[in-house]
Amino acid sequence: MFTVGIITASDKGYKGQREDISGKVIEDILLEKGYKISNRIIVPDEPKDLKDAIIHMADELKVDLILTTGGTGFSKRDITPEVTTELCDRMANGIAEAIRYYSLSITPRAMLSRGVSGIRKDTLIVNLPGSPKAVKEALEYSLDSIYHGLEILT
Ligand code: MTE
Repeated sequence: MFTVGIITASDKGYKGQREDISGKVIEDILLEKGYKISNRIIVPDEPKDLKDAIIHMADELKVDLILTTGGTGFSKRDITPEVTTELCDRMANGIAEAIRYYSLSITPRAMLSRGVSGIRKDTLIVNLPGSPKAVKEALEYSLDSIYHGLEILT
């Protein structure tokens, strides 16, 4: 059974001004597929907070998979892809490309997500966009292949 950490990057979610529906959507989908949720948190769109959360989940909890949601767009505070890239040893560009490719068949606005994916030691990290709809669409397309990737990685 693979373990997962879920991180929602959202200033509004962190302040309690918005319910974390996307984090819950990820949790529900992953539980249904038999993953174990080790940790789920909300951080503000601050590089230090996101960095600490990823390092805690990857290096201390040693989860197999980290899924982030939010902070991938063009807002000045959207820093999820930059932080993720900085923390990865090897990029897994195909996952981010596939998510964008599939999502473009649903909405041209998918081109606005700058999400990346990569590997830190034994942990795969995948950035998903922020909306519950986008999260669901991205996971329904990519999760089977992500599972196969985890089998090879771990
Ligand atoms: N991907 C899918 N599958 N479905 C969507 O509705 N919305 C897009 C894009 N990716 C979308 C999607 C939009 S409108 C934006 S602005 C970007 O994701 C970035 O979202 P974020 O800033 O919340 O991470």
